[in-house]
Amino acid sequence: MSKIYVITGAASGIGRALVEHFSADNIVYAGVRRTEAFSELERLSKNIIPFFIDLCNDESIVKAAEFIKKRTNKINTLINAAGCVVAGALERIPASELRRQFDTNVFGHIEFTQGLLDLLEGGRVINISSMASYGIFPFIAPYCASKRAMDILFNSMLMETKRDIKIISIKPGVIATPLWDKSIDQNKASIRDCSGYEAEMEYMVKNAGKNGREGAPVQSVVDVVSEADSARKPKLTYTVGKDAFAARCVSKLPQSLINGIIKSKVKKLSPKKPEQSGGIN
Ligand SMILES: NC(=O)c1ccc[n+]([C@@H]2O[C@H](COP(=O)([O-])OP(=O)(O)OC[C@H]3O[C@@H](n4cnc5c(N)ncnc54)[C@H](OP(=O)(O)O)[C@@H]3O)[C@@H](O)[C@H]2O)c1
Repeated sequence: MSKIYVITGAASGIGRALVEHFSADNIVYAGVRRTEAFSELERLSKNIIPFFIDLCNDESIVKAAEFIKKRTNKINTLINAAGCVVAGALERIPASELRRQFDTNVFGHIEFTQGLLDLLEGGRVINISSMASYGIFPFIAPYCASKRAMDILFNSMLMETKRDIKIISIKPGVIATPLWDKSIDQNKASIRDCSGYEAEMEYMVKNAGKNGREGAPVQSVVDVVSEADSARKPKLTYTVGKDAFAARCVSKLPQSLINGIIKSKVKKLSPKKPEQSGGIN
């Protein structure tokens, strides 16, 4: 029997792949914030009902929930897939950017989910978190913290709720999507204003390009989300990829050891100072 899905971040990458997958046999309300994406999804299938949502804008979130509530009284699965990355050296990232990170990846999803909870009775919320939630990656600290906060808040909602609802966290490793190019484009100012961290920023930019090209296919996330969506007793957390599993294992080490490993890796990125290389005295 056909089910009802609500998926944010439907314009591209993982969200878009999930919309395509689930709309083959189900009705999918697909959340986007760009007009071009809206009409593209509308043309794709009559099972896709696009709606506008900007997770940084309260009014837009309320309107999006109202739009859905006017059209259905039941949602089987809400997939919170929208997201962005705020990156750079934490010493320099403006507070406004930290707020944008948390508005998009945390508060927006909480507010939208709250607005739809009555329709989700007996259903599931599947959050596209990240291996970043394990908190071991430098220079994308706002992103890591936002994914961790998302996991903590939604898990608390699950512990507290008297509703019949399942809440699941999906933690992918590196996936080839436009997120990586956007992470460079949207953080240009922080990357430019980085004196003292030039080598680290250079590495970050190169690595983002590589990840966007060579990451795992979006289908690997679609497969795990499908499994979590159909399992009678889903797990609380699913990792996607060996890198995400490794991040999970590393996160269990003592924090001082993790810091030591990461610091030594970061140190290798910086050019050696003359005295370290045994040169000029
Ligand atoms: N790619 C990876 O390696 C990876 C790994 C782990 C987790 N994830 C997570 O997977 C999710 C999907 O990301 P993706 O990799 O598929 O990247 P993506 O293609 O950039 O998708 C992110 C989507 O979120 C939307 N979005 C961003 N800010 C928004 C806002 N304020 N309001 C509403 N929508 C907004 C974007 O819309 P626009 O097109 O308008 O920008 C885009 O459609 C994200 O939560 C990301 O953190 C990705």
